[in-house]
Amino acid sequence: MNLEVTYHKHDALIIGSGIAGLYAALKTSGEVDTAVLSKVYPTRSHSGAAQGGCAASLGNRMEDRWEWHLYDTVRGSDFLGDQDAQELLVREAVPVMYEMEHLGVPFSRTPEGRIDQRAFGGHFGNFGKTPMLRACFAADRTGHAQLHLLYEQCLKHQVRFYNEFYALSLIVKDGICLGAVAWDMNRGGLHVFQAKAVMLATGGYARCWKITSNAHANTGDGLALIMRQGLALEDMEFVQFHPTGVWKHGMLVSEAARGEGGHLTNDKGERFMENYAKEKMELAPRDVVSRAEQTEIDEGRGIAGQDCVHIDLTHLGREKILERLPQIHEMAQKFLGINCIEKPIPIQPTAHYSMGGIPTTLDTEVLADGKEEVLAGLYASGECACVSVHGANRLGTNSTLECAVFGRHGGLRMLDYIRTCPSFEELPGNELDMAREEVEHLLSTAGTKGGVRPVELRERLQETMQKNVAVFRNQEGLADQVKICGELREQYRRVAIDDGARVANTDLIETIELGHMLDYSYMIARCALERTECRGAHWRTDHPGRNDKEWHKHTLAYLKGDEIRLDYKPVTITRHQPEERKY
Ligand code: FUM
Repeated sequence: MNLEVTYHKHDALIIGSGIAGLYAALKTSGEVDTAVLSKVYPTRSHSGAAQGGCAASLGNRMEDRWEWHLYDTVRGSDFLGDQDAQELLVREAVPVMYEMEHLGVPFSRTPEGRIDQRAFGGHFGNFGKTPMLRACFAADRTGHAQLHLLYEQCLKHQVRFYNEFYALSLIVKDGICLGAVAWDMNRGGLHVFQAKAVMLATGGYARCWKITSNAHANTGDGLALIMRQGLALEDMEFVQFHPTGVWKHGMLVSEAARGEGGHLTNDKGERFMENYAKEKMELAPRDVVSRAEQTEIDEGRGIAGQDCVHIDLTHLGREKILERLPQIHEMAQKFLGINCIEKPIPIQPTAHYSMGGIPTTLDTEVLADGKEEVLAGLYASGECACVSVHGANRLGTNSTLECAVFGRHGGLRMLDYIRTCPSFEELPGNELDMAREEVEHLLSTAGTKGGVRPVELRERLQETMQKNVAVFRNQEGLADQVKICGELREQYRRVAIDDGARVANTDLIETIELGHMLDYSYMIARCALERTECRGAHWRTDHPGRNDKEWHKHTLAYLKGDEIRLDYKPVTITRHQPEERKY
């Protein structure tokens, strides 16, 4: 098969165009030649779906301190986050938020004209004791506002965009990353990008669940690039279920709805959080609220016996809903035909955020062995990375914050590194092999009889992850899922696509994405099976309680062929020793 190949050279290559990728690009552009490669048009990146806010201890509504934000983040992570990274996150939050304001993010405002701040679960004052308004917001479209701003700024600073390009492999020689190979999704053809430094900012990967808030694009492509180099992934068992996904569809009803005063109710009309987190109620951390909802559903108190409960906003009134939660109002109307000014919205836990990912240093350098060995020239930030600020459970609004802080910080560190590289290194010569083989093989299956249909594998993966790797987990379900992922990976070798075109071939891309989903799902199930304790979002019904003695450590996982090798590393503690965490 004769696939056309085009070569490019850029000092900085950033793969992914969400908040993390674009903030990194903004910091390198102007200084060095910067390119962003994205499989979607940048403003369609999943950061645009982030609704409720971005945390920072600005103290615009009430006294706040970064030390309190740090304590909440440490405790929210169930003491699994690395506290040096968490400190960097919450300290940098304040200047980064003001930088974004000055760049032009249209934040909602206090009456005095300051950035307004609202309540979100798990954020408190005075070391967990008092309520807190910490989430900076732009109505319920905060991520959208930040994403568009960063894209405009990148255009202004001459960032070169390769939109609808799909990264297929990294180019690595002698422990140094020298670029990446990508497929032009619109026109077909392979593209070799030579770079002095590469950043992976490919976002989350919860598409392997049936009910998820994630965009269709969230298929863990960055993780797959890492796994296929034999490198480590970290803490893959920790995936957060957001308590308020639109019933049956999964997209978010922002936690801001509870921050603004929304109530969760069961079939009897009871505010059931009374029975699970009496003090914090609907504003307990997400893992706590999701388990409460799932318990109500499992014990038959879901609405009309179904797998949903209600979020009730009706008492907030029309004016507040339309001013502060306009997107939720629109979504409930469009997807469920419900006017939330008058009626409650049926919701269920939805796979939302992946705490694990590509292990990095504080400076976003990728750790080849997951521990100490840096892979020179390769960086990762945002949801695909695990630096690790969220540990076992992320607090709401710490996500767009992580993307902004570590995207920005990573961009600056990349710049330092690029300045030490006077010229481009020579490419290894076989840089195209992995990518070419994958595309040629799949295109050659088009129209062949007897192959396995990708859609069947994808559906089985999503159904079984939903059942076995859910809010509540146990040995039997997880072992089953490891086996199922193994079988699906085996069947994937015989997959056949329908469309053999080189141009705009979504069948080809979705099948490559499926391969990525199968690989990292296998890792998620296996890491979850091994961790025999409850911590944050990882809740084992057969192993009640957190077990710090044996499990206060990060999981590292490496894939070689069909084998997953596991290893562990200690958690960095600086200020807060593990303590009991009720909520
Ligand atoms: O509920 C939300 O608005 C989501 C925020 C987050 O995941 O941080």
